[in-house]
Amino acid sequence: MLLRKKMFVEVKNLKKDYGTGENIIHVLKGLNFQLEKGEICTVLGPSGAGKSTLLNLIGGIDTLTSGEIRIAGKLIELDDKDGLLEYRRDHLGFVFQFYNLIPDLTVKENIEVCGFLGKNNLDINKLLSDLGLKEHQNKFPRQLSGGQQQRTSIGRALIKAPTLLLCDEPTGALDYETSKEILELLERVNHEYNTTILIVTHNEAISHMSDRIIHLKDGRITNNLVNPRKTAARDLTW
Ligand SMILES: Nc1ncnc2c1ncn2[C@@H]1O[C@H](COP(=O)(O)OP(=O)(O)O)[C@@H](O)[C@H]1O
Ligand SMILES: [Mg+2]
Repeated sequence: MLLRKKMFVEVKNLKKDYGTGENIIHVLKGLNFQLEKGEICTVLGPSGAGKSTLLNLIGGIDTLTSGEIRIAGKLIELDDKDGLLEYRRDHLGFVFQFYNLIPDLTVKENIEVCGFLGKNNLDINKLLSDLGLKEHQNKFPRQLSGGQQQRTSIGRALIKAPTLLLCDEPTGALDYETSKEILELLERVNHEYNTTILIVTHNEAISHMSDRIIHLKDGRITNNLVNPRKTAARDLTW
């Protein structure tokens, strides 16, 4: 008997509409894809393609219209408050384009506060060193460069040792060199912790460092490729 390989992320016929009646917009029009544990996947698509919407549905911060999302075999359902809390606490890290740090907390506190409820937290001091933030740990976000702020937000996502890291345009606000630093960091996280990473971006170059490349256009997947030869993040150019 052939046993189907267990997939870590399973998205089935996923649809998302906004609005109702005459004002309805079909943003995601039936997406199907799967990711294995430990994969880096890039979702590429122009602005308005539905990338952030997809990430927000997988992250359990918005409701789907129909279809299903399973993470490690479990359905993501917004009505299941306890299940969702557990999923967010034990599985999920989120990284955004504009960092969303708390301005009145230091680097260290911004990271720690997210580990508050976690069960398998990473060691905060090791994490600060790994992120190159040790000497900045007592600074406030306004005292940091964009790259340092994004490293802090990655630390905040990582403190709970998430199994799934969702990144929405993680380098969208950063210059070229700093973007590459952040991508190298994500690559290292993937290696070190076997974290499954889903990056949505319109920067095609980022896809070359990933195991899987999904093209999203106008709410549909137009291509889903396995990348046979990954490029190291430091060798990416654009
Ligand atoms: N809360 C919302 N209400 C109505 N329309 C929305 C909402 N969020 C996103 N959209 C629409 O969904 C489409 C896809 O948006 P988004 O997922 O942000 O695209 P991307 O991240 O690929 O740029 C856009 O047309 C956008 O205007
Ligand atoms: Mg977006």
